Amino acid sequence: MLMKHTSGRFCVSQVEMAAAPAATFAIGSTGSLGQRGSSLPQSRSFGLKFNSQNPLKSFCGLKAMSSVRCESELSFLGNKSASALRASFASKAQKEKGQNFNYQLQPQASYKVAVLGAAGGIGQPLALLIKMSPLVSDLHLYDIANVKGVAADISHCNTPSQVKDFTGASELAKCLNGVDVVVIPAGVPRKPGMTRDDLFNINAGIVRDLVSAVADNCPGAFIQIISNPVNSTVPIAAEVLKQKGVYDPKKLFGVTTLDVVRANTFVAQKKNLKLIDVDVPVVGGHAGITILPLLSKTRPSASFTDEVVEELTVRIQNAGTEVVEAKAGAGSATLSMAYAAARFVESSLRALDGDGDVYECSYVQSDLTDLPFFASRVKLGKKGIEALIPSDLQGLTDYEQKALEALKPELKASIEKGIAFAQKQAVAA
Ligand code: NAD
Ligand code: LMR
Repeated sequence: MLMKHTSGRFCVSQVEMAAAPAATFAIGSTGSLGQRGSSLPQSRSFGLKFNSQNPLKSFCGLKAMSSVRCESELSFLGNKSASALRASFASKAQKEKGQNFNYQLQPQASYKVAVLGAAGGIGQPLALLIKMSPLVSDLHLYDIANVKGVAADISHCNTPSQVKDFTGASELAKCLNGVDVVVIPAGVPRKPGMTRDDLFNINAGIVRDLVSAVADNCPGAFIQIISNPVNSTVPIAAEVLKQKGVYDPKKLFGVTTLDVVRANTFVAQKKNLKLIDVDVPVVGGHAGITILPLLSKTRPSASFTDEVVEELTVRIQNAGTEVVEAKAGAGSATLSMAYAAARFVESSLRALDGDGDVYECSYVQSDLTDLPFFASRVKLGKKGIEALIPSDLQGLTDYEQKALEALKPELKASIEKGIAFAQKQAVAA
């Protein structure tokens, strides 16, 4: 784990939750590993598994250990990723501190993260997962109600970040001041029988108002939108930021990580692959047929019959509905979404922290197709998106090519609906 000292220098840290008795705790960044020197970066989960057999060298909310054993098969991080991560951080640490990688160190967190909608089904577990990140110094939790208790509860975890609660519009500016990453899961979820677009009437206005406050108070932040319909809420956010004169397309993201997480899980199950190694890019958008898993680009490479391609594609596209129906009126995916969003946040923080090897799929402004917004793999850096990765879209199978063409009208309509909403509101104002 890369830590930034207050001096701005880096060190490598192996950490373990103080409360985890004798055992193990997987922490870490998730994100992606570009294959250096390769034209085809591969999304990868990152991180290390720590155990407490070694004596502790220091204590700082998290316990930093003198050495680490990587047990990748038990963590959500792959072997290859973990060793690449260690190599990358070790060389950084040596360069910047002249230290041996294995000798460790006090974590120093330095990024401010805000969660808007933090008292909700996603917001609460997401806040907890972000609280576990050693890269976060301040965790600001905002909601229109019930956030005080959530913040009090999470603040008792002995990890580095300071947790503060903010309730209602009058406290929103204070919440956002100086924030590096803003995550927005505010809004209503689906019930059985609804489409994501059925949420537009309520959530469009919520996202508009929250993004407007982001524009006023932390215009340089990474903005990560979870609220549905993502296919429309991201274009709404872009318009609002344009109206405020602060739009940076490199820093606006629709969070589609859950589609990748699901695709990886379902493919690993189907092909009996080691879960941690599987990487399936998912492109397009985040609703129904606009969710397009590119199974032909699965890493490690795997072959699928036409029937299995159809079965997996449909399952990944309908996975949100699968959860909505199983919850039978009590909401949509919250825990897996929090996990996926935490992965995206952690990847963003690593990118902000100077890791030059971070790739994730996200729904962003794009010129990879004729649509103005499109989910694809992107390379993240200190200033946001450094590059859109076109290679996944090359050499598609006939099935994928047809599915790509088929999704475009629906995605285009959702984008235009979002833009029209934001423009109409601006004219009315
Ligand atoms: P939820 O109802 O449990 O929580 C939403 C929270 O937002 C509530 O605490 C509510 O008080 C808060 N909220 C409402 N208006 C607000 C405002 N103006 N400012 C701040 N907070 C406000 O819902 P949930 O299950 O957490 O889902 C939230 C959203 O995320 C939904 O729109 C859902 O469709 C979406 N979602 C997206 C994905 C994805 O992959 N992108 C996955 C799952 C859910
Ligand atoms: C999901 O994919 O789980 C979310 O978009 C929530 C939903 O409504 O399906």
